[in-house]
Amino acid sequence: MAEIRDITEVDFTGKKVLLRVDFNVELDPEGDALERFKLEASKETVTKILSFPGVKVALLSHFGRPEGKRDEAYSLRPMQDDVARALGVPTKFVEDCIGDVVVSGLKSLVDGEVLLLENVRFYSGEESNDQTFAASLAAPFDIFVNEAFSVCHRNQASVTAITNILPSYAGMRLLEERDKLDEIRRSPMHPAIAIIGGAKIETKLPLIREFERTYDAVLVGGMVANEAIDQGISFSEKVLLPADFQDEDARLDIGPKTTAMFIEIVKRARTIVWNGPMGKFEEKPYDAGTNAIVHAMSESSAEIVVGGGESLTILERGNLIRKVGFVCTGGGAMLEYMSGKVLPGLAALEAAAKQRSVGFAARHLSKLL
Ligand code: ADP
Ligand code: 3PG
Ligand code: MG
Repeated sequence: MAEIRDITEVDFTGKKVLLRVDFNVELDPEGDALERFKLEASKETVTKILSFPGVKVALLSHFGRPEGKRDEAYSLRPMQDDVARALGVPTKFVEDCIGDVVVSGLKSLVDGEVLLLENVRFYSGEESNDQTFAASLAAPFDIFVNEAFSVCHRNQASVTAITNILPSYAGMRLLEERDKLDEIRRSPMHPAIAIIGGAKIETKLPLIREFERTYDAVLVGGMVANEAIDQGISFSEKVLLPADFQDEDARLDIGPKTTAMFIEIVKRARTIVWNGPMGKFEEKPYDAGTNAIVHAMSESSAEIVVGGGESLTILERGNLIRKVGFVCTGGGAMLEYMSGKVLPGLAALEAAAKQRSVGFAARHLSKLL
């Protein structure tokens, strides 16, 4: 595996640190953050960096898809309290992610406080991975840390271009996710099974194909299964599609026969990867298939990895986030990484590590000559 430098090798004393996090979470109707797990993911890294004297930390995130324009509906300001609670540190907010307000915001921080910057996608340079925009983001800072595995599949300025400018490191959670996904993909304990549900066969098919090749069984449910059946996609015998549905017309959930068959397989598995619900779980009784599978997983002693926004919401509701297994913050990023794609955010951190060691060797050599 290519080398990525993590924060454990950095002395942050007196440094200004730009920390890329992913606070792109669902909100409930009252505007409170769901997916608290995603907010909490950077806690360990924030705590570690703040343990250095004189350090100043700013948190940078996107929120939704405001299409490169300032749009208050996508402001991170309402998230300030949720972030402070999730990270356990007092949090100040500034209404921009570049310019003088960031510089003065950093100056205003007292020990132990962090600065939450405004949505980075208010600038079109973010999604176009613009190097000049990345330079504006980097200007007030000494070090960049990426603690957002879940945006590593995006080739965007605050994920990739910025690593050309600042010394760049991986946060602890980002590395943990990469390592866990590598381990479960390359050397799973057998029987190894994947349970794939949710929606959009185009995005999930590469993952089904990958596990069809490497795992012992792939259980496919949800809208993905309906789409695969309707499109006549053919699979090997390792891929199990639903044999019945709760409602044969709309096919909003897998049926009792399929649920029982899937549970039997879950019980025997030693490795389980789960992404996507088995039905339209938001609407009773179409949550039955998903709930039954989740219950079987919660009783299993297999190594379990879960990813995907809706899948995490289901676990969060059942208070099962830490009980079921390893929870990946990335939905899209997990799908792409597990299906063997190179994630631009990880590649950028690898390139930064390489460049740095080349630079170090050159400096060392010039001293000797
Ligand atoms: P995840 O975020 O966990 O990867 P997805 O985003 O792929 O999951 O899909 C979740 C959505 O798919 C849910 O909103 C759910 O209602 C919908 N869904 C799953 N199965 C069905 C189905 N059989 N019929 C209609 N909607 C479904
Ligand atoms: C996610 O929520 O999956 C990530 O934050 C990426 O968001 P995006 O799909 O809008 O790029
Ligand atoms: Mg989703």
